[in-house]
Amino acid sequence: MNIIKKISLIGILAATSLSTKAQEASLPYEGVAGWEETKDKRMEWFREARFGMFIHWGLYSAAAGSWDGKQYPQHYAEWIQAWAKVPSKPYAEVLKPKFTASKFNADEWAKLADDAGMKYMIITSRHHEGFSIFNSKQPFALNNDITGGTNISPDGRDLYGEIITAFHKKGLKAGAYYSLLDWQHPDSYEGVSYLNSNPTGYQPNHESYKNFLYEQVKELATNYDALDVLWLDFSSKKHQGESWGTKRILKDLIKWQPNILVNNRFWDGLENKNGDIGTPEKYIPPTGLPGMDWEVSHTMNESYGYSAHDKNWKSFDKTMRLFIETVSKGGNFLLNVGPDAEGAIPDEAKKLLKDIGTWMSVNSEAIYGTTASPFQTVDWGYSTQKKGKLYFHVFDIPADGNITVPLSSAIKQAHILGAPKQKLQIDSDLAGKIIQLPEGFGGQMPLVIVADIEGEPQVIQSQVQSQKDGRIVLTANNAQLVGNNGIKLIGATTHNPNRPNAVGSWTNKNDHVIWDIKIQRPGQYEVILNYLPNEKHTGTITIKMGSQTLNQVFSTETGNSFTDKKVGYFEVTQQDIGDAALQIQLHADNIQGEALPEISSITLIPVSK
Ligand code: GLC
Repeated sequence: MNIIKKISLIGILAATSLSTKAQEASLPYEGVAGWEETKDKRMEWFREARFGMFIHWGLYSAAAGSWDGKQYPQHYAEWIQAWAKVPSKPYAEVLKPKFTASKFNADEWAKLADDAGMKYMIITSRHHEGFSIFNSKQPFALNNDITGGTNISPDGRDLYGEIITAFHKKGLKAGAYYSLLDWQHPDSYEGVSYLNSNPTGYQPNHESYKNFLYEQVKELATNYDALDVLWLDFSSKKHQGESWGTKRILKDLIKWQPNILVNNRFWDGLENKNGDIGTPEKYIPPTGLPGMDWEVSHTMNESYGYSAHDKNWKSFDKTMRLFIETVSKGGNFLLNVGPDAEGAIPDEAKKLLKDIGTWMSVNSEAIYGTTASPFQTVDWGYSTQKKGKLYFHVFDIPADGNITVPLSSAIKQAHILGAPKQKLQIDSDLAGKIIQLPEGFGGQMPLVIVADIEGEPQVIQSQVQSQKDGRIVLTANNAQLVGNNGIKLIGATTHNPNRPNAVGSWTNKNDHVIWDIKIQRPGQYEVILNYLPNEKHTGTITIKMGSQTLNQVFSTETGNSFTDKKVGYFEVTQQDIGDAALQIQLHADNIQGEALPEISSITLIPVSK
């Protein structure tokens, strides 16, 4: 419901500007000199950091997810003004007095981030509502007919400045989130027409809005300690690049702050390559974003902005999986906190940060300065690497107490981080290296093993092994996608963060899918396919194991969630056991619709006799 609202609002925002021609595709940084050529140097600290704090704090924090006694769904509480369709004047009248920052202490925030092992911080200097926690000198910010002014720091203070200074004092990098949308400014692309009535039929002057953006960015970049990141939000096909006067801003920004990083949201699309940093929001791209630096921003509960009724806190385990998966795919993890109107960070968030800090105090060397895992997947967790070292982050200890690493090159020695004296036993077999974990690991999970290796890691295709209960789960993540006609992994999205990764865009019969498997037990196995029914995705596939085949016909079906389907049975003989070449393959017999349905997994379940 909420999602639909957000999407439809974006639709409205876009529709208000039909007069603007679609932008031409941009060059990185709009081709402005000084950016591309200094990129590697500017990116250095970011590539080392891997972990940062996002802070959403503004008038919406005072609404806390409700308006006029009505609770709005917890996602994106910073959008409350749009959800409840409140014009800026009453919005400011109700919320300004509540935004007291009475418990706010910038040094405490910086300490929380530092103790958690975070290396940088991005704070919302101004969100879509148009109010800012930095003291802007722009005439519209100082006084205007709509809300009387947009600066919301209590008298005599500059909350933004206090935060930037406190984080810098701790040795962390500090940057500003800055909204390109503005629901209040009469000259923005959407402010007047959507939330604020426009009885005089005022025609927005976008040139004046561009100038306002330029002057405010200049204030952020020149009035405070260094501005390490300008984190813009966000563009659409209709409004991107030059819509914001990007060239002028970029030309001067790099002079004001020669080391600054700018994210990619001056342009449309979270994964677009214009700018220094790709910004997937609430989802991890299934195969990372090769060829660019990127950062996943994620929430601890559902919302970025504070919502009093958002109690859906992620567990420590879940948060760590998101964090390490992101780093193992080559990204940075920007974990959000949403302080309330008094400046208090929710206890649940503090607890989570403290637990992460405890883990980081032992394991941070497996995070800082690491690069993406050399392995496609490993079934016990995730891996990261540095020159001469591999790190194995073990979330799920296998039943036999060993982890298999699909690596053919030698491991010189391996130990658990925090226990360097206790060397682990390593054996080799066809599947790679088998590392014996110590019995009864009493530390904080995930446990991390560091392995010293010689040269580049030599990876072998990993085999999917039976789980404790004898089942074999072939997921899209551990599939080999063969063919170059479009077949690819499709994953979660911002508005659907919990959907599984799946094999998708399967439009050509020459593409196919393979899993190498290792079955420990002979006998009959039931084959279950998990897929996403879709009326436009029809056709027939064959599932093959050796000479055995099963067919699955996908007919026109509606439905919007991944579904299990029993397909039939495979017989595994004694000879198949331990056979290194045993494979399950999927082939397309015919594709009638636009594509075959997305397939997220195939599970073989032993049939008990
Ligand atoms: C968005 C949102 C927003 C949030 C953010 C974080 O697109 O509109 O509320 O601040 O990006 O990534």
